[in-house]
Amino acid sequence: MNRILKIFQTPQELAEAFAIEMVNIINEAWKKKDPLTIALSGGSTPKLLFAVLAKKYSKSVDWSYVHIFWSDERCVQPVDPESNYGMARKILLDKIKIPEKNIHRIRGEEDPDIEASRYSEEIIANTRSKNKIPLFDLIILGMGEDGHFASIFPGNLKLLCSKKICEVAAHPVSGQKRITITGKVINNADKIFFLVTGKSKAPVIEQIFKKEAIFENFPAAYIIPERGEATWFLDKKAAKLIDRTSNC
Ligand code: 6PG
Repeated sequence: MNRILKIFQTPQELAEAFAIEMVNIINEAWKKKDPLTIALSGGSTPKLLFAVLAKKYSKSVDWSYVHIFWSDERCVQPVDPESNYGMARKILLDKIKIPEKNIHRIRGEEDPDIEASRYSEEIIANTRSKNKIPLFDLIILGMGEDGHFASIFPGNLKLLCSKKICEVAAHPVSGQKRITITGKVINNADKIFFLVTGKSKAPVIEQIFKKEAIFENFPAAYIIPERGEATWFLDKKAAKLIDRTSNC
């Protein structure tokens, strides 16, 4: 299985480079007049990306074919500073011309179990599928210091192997309830990108790329796409313990 690795000097340089990659994907869909389904994550690196997209590509990109989803959401009000939707809305979505019907937010303010089921149905109704599993065209993930992605935390294999589309999770330290897309759906995506920055991520990156990962400890090691590959955008601090030619 191929993990494509791209290393950048700084988080800003990484965000600028990924924005170009993302815009090219959007423009290809626009040329074919195909709807494009993208699942966003929360976190500091996606936040940089949203700012680049809003500043440089708000006018030059036709966003009307893009459908925005989230890979996970905190169970908070949309206006809460913790909300992944709220962050994307403030930094990006309010600055681009995208039809409101194309913004498929997870309703963090609702009962988690009810919303996990509702959001699963919204995903089914608005994405393609392959092997009877929803297929996102593009999933953008961050990775925590513990190797989590979306809201799939270490030791929670249930969420990686679940047959459900969305599940309720809880942050292992704060206990904060979350709703997350499950591992099978993420691995079914057409393109998966990890955006990972900072030296605190370097030990986990080393174990994942050197195949030393004890899977139970590093959910991100489980991202093994059904088709194609996962592309890892790292800054040099996150990549400092692996050599540039690492691929696995
Ligand atoms: C969330 C995110 C989460 C995030 C990672 C990395 O809801 O918190 O979806 O999975 O992507 O924690 O976050 P940083 O990039 O800020 O380290």
